[in-house]
Amino acid sequence: MDLLSQLTASFADAFHTESTASEPLLICSPGRVNLIGEHTDYNEGFVLPAAIDKAIYLAVSPRTDNELHFVAYDLNKSFQGSLNDLSPTHTWADYLLGVVAQFILAGQQISGFNCLFTGTIPMGSGLSSSAALENGVGFALNEMFQLGLDRITMLKLSQRAENEFVGAKVGIMDMFASMMGRADHVIKLDCRSLEYAYAPLQMDGISIVLCDSRVKHSLVSSEYNTRRAECEAGVRFLKAFYPEVNSLRDVTMTMLDTHLKHTQPLIYRRCAYVVQENQRLLDGVAALETGNISAFGQLMYGSHEGLSQWYEVSCPELDILVEIARQHPGVLGARMMGGGFGGCTINLVQEDHLDDFRQLIIKQYKAQTGKDTYLHVCKIQNGTNLVSKSVSR
Ligand code: GLA
Repeated sequence: MDLLSQLTASFADAFHTESTASEPLLICSPGRVNLIGEHTDYNEGFVLPAAIDKAIYLAVSPRTDNELHFVAYDLNKSFQGSLNDLSPTHTWADYLLGVVAQFILAGQQISGFNCLFTGTIPMGSGLSSSAALENGVGFALNEMFQLGLDRITMLKLSQRAENEFVGAKVGIMDMFASMMGRADHVIKLDCRSLEYAYAPLQMDGISIVLCDSRVKHSLVSSEYNTRRAECEAGVRFLKAFYPEVNSLRDVTMTMLDTHLKHTQPLIYRRCAYVVQENQRLLDGVAALETGNISAFGQLMYGSHEGLSQWYEVSCPELDILVEIARQHPGVLGARMMGGGFGGCTINLVQEDHLDDFRQLIIKQYKAQTGKDTYLHVCKIQNGTNLVSKSVSR
């Protein structure tokens, strides 16, 4: 049975005794990659993400009462609650409840609903399954209750759910990429103005390959917040000299070299990484426009080095994956991707070298870490969308 048929069948199975108002809607909400521009989103910088062909799939149907019945199919868990009591449960259900709560806070009229979801995004591998789920729920609410919201409004509500209900102070990149993705394009997003442009990803004969370190580092959320605070400290310090500075987007290397390099070396390194990463992204976009993929690949290596040495959000396993990739003649660029401390590396690999790259990295990674890596070759897809109405049971 294909995934959509299974989704529909499982939904019917889970909710057959209940009063659903109609047949379920099916929604696909993708995970994301980011080619370059890491830890820049919450510093009002640039990112270059895309939605991928790994997604959360939701079946949803409005109820005639105020109850919320959710099933996380892959976890084999279910949740029952009510619109009248929306408080965090500190479980997976918060990704759904948080979006519901934000829609209500935003004044949207909704009733209860049933939702069953499954997915193909490997959990905890840094491909933003949580943003995909939140966007999927928001999209579902908009469709079920005909709220008429635009995508930007919905993705902002997803971010608010994650920031305020789940309690993770993430930036806007993941929700933006998942909701706004366009097949075969990357999104150049200015996280200050939210201006964005689609750039065709013209990389004939080159694949985007993710190598999963299979490390799920417990430090990710606490260190993420620490990095945010360090960047904010740098901005506060520089503002005393340059009142026009409101974020690291307004900061130059000269400012950092003059005021922070010798007095606050740690803050200097964090801020310098961000300022340089924004520049790498702009150079990278220019390289992509002229089809210079090898120049782009070198910028990816530079990004990794900055993340590992200056921003210190890598881990030995991610560094090893990038080092193995760098030794392979068919790889144009590689770096860690996302928040860090585990998850995946992103690699640009020549298609005729895919097999030998796969063999090399699996073998070498095992030899150096004792761990297995999984490879995912991704395609760039459209953002969150309705799949199709299911056939009647
Ligand atoms: C996580 C966050 C994003 C972004 C990246 C780092 O994926 O969710 O907002 O900050 O880390 O670039």
